[in-house]
Amino acid sequence: MNKIMTLTDAQPDNAKAGKAPTLPDAQTVTSVQHWTDSLFSFRVTRPASLRFRSGEFVMIGLLKDDGRPLLRAYSIASPNWDDELEFYSIKVADGPLTSRLQHIEPGDQIILRPKPVGTLVHDALLPGKRLYMFSTGTGIAPFASLVRDPETFDKFDQVILTHTCRDVADLAYGRELIEGLTNDPLIGEMVEGKLLYYPTTTREHSPRMGRITTHLRDGTLARELGLPPISAETDRAMVCGSMGLNTDMKQILEEAGLSEGANSEPAEYVVEKAFVG
Ligand SMILES: Cc1cc2nc3c(=O)[nH]c(=O)nc-3n(C[C@H](O)[C@H](O)[C@H](O)COP(=O)(O)OP(=O)(O)OC[C@H]3O[C@@H](n4cnc5c(N)ncnc54)[C@H](O)[C@@H]3O)c2cc1C
Ligand SMILES: NC(=O)c1ccc[n+]([C@@H]2O[C@H](COP(=O)([O-])OP(=O)(O)OC[C@H]3O[C@@H](n4cnc5c(N)ncnc54)[C@H](OP(=O)(O)O)[C@@H]3O)[C@@H](O)[C@H]2O)c1
Repeated sequence: MNKIMTLTDAQPDNAKAGKAPTLPDAQTVTSVQHWTDSLFSFRVTRPASLRFRSGEFVMIGLLKDDGRPLLRAYSIASPNWDDELEFYSIKVADGPLTSRLQHIEPGDQIILRPKPVGTLVHDALLPGKRLYMFSTGTGIAPFASLVRDPETFDKFDQVILTHTCRDVADLAYGRELIEGLTNDPLIGEMVEGKLLYYPTTTREHSPRMGRITTHLRDGTLARELGLPPISAETDRAMVCGSMGLNTDMKQILEEAGLSEGANSEPAEYVVEKAFVG
């Protein structure tokens, strides 16, 4: 989708003039928070001209030693009204990008290609009463954007955010996000009584254990939250996780009568990969 540019492509004048290269599309890191050994979040400056829809992703990265950009897709975790951009990231030990990205500090620069895209957006869904957001792992990132966007609560009477991770510590980013929302001056009143948060773990013991797919199929989620079974008439869904989660969720939603939407043709649910592989 994005052509990998050489430094010479990106900076012909500097290269020709033999000047020290500067980072193309550079943004400055403003804060970094490490949640676990394998998860961290960070905030960067936002280009003045960058407009995006909450839920979209962009390409971000660093320059490799050979001066070429190394870019990966990242969901923007901050809402579209925020002055800065937030990202929530895995640390893959031998990952080409994240083995280095995990060491960024405030004041460092990253590359950000200002071309947001994605299907986890309100435009790809038909109006409904309830919005389900199903996430695993870093798949919560686009929903961290959408649950901070007032449009989400203008459009839906109830918003249900589910987050399933292996371990309890993997839930911390999402849990603090939801706790912070109630105290948020802009959105606190809007979310009260409307936002339902449903975290589960699959490997480490916690108060609510099991895959979300199991909780949907055996009726646990509906029972615990006091909700009716998912129906195409009232319910809309967004899904972001591994290939396995996405495939299984598609089957559950299709069986409930929902059909997949896209920017060009809104429908009842949308899906996006949280990562490839
Ligand atoms: C549309 C889209 C949005 C994305 N948004 C995010 C995001 O918001 N945050 C984020 O951390 N990553 C996100 N990713 C994944 C991201 O693009 C990179 O794969 C990730 O940053 C690792 O890069 P890497 O170069 O270190 O390793 P890569 O070579 O890209 O990946 C190596 C392997 O690590 C595993 N892996 C990679 N990313 C993840 C992940 N997020 N969770 C679990 N396992 C993973 C996979 O098995 C993969 O094959 C997104 C991917 C897509 C396609
Ligand atoms: N997170 C860690 O602690 C950890 C540690 C070492 C290595 N890694 C590596 O990091 C990568 C991703 O790990 P991750 O934990 O972020 O992502 P993940 O493997 O996709 O798992 C995230 C959550 O999604 C659940 N899940 C997976 N497939 C599902 C499906 N088909 N339906 C419903 N739920 C499903 C998992 O449950 P299950 O537990 O039942 O699969 C887990 O709770 C992997 O390559 C892994 O080897 C992660």
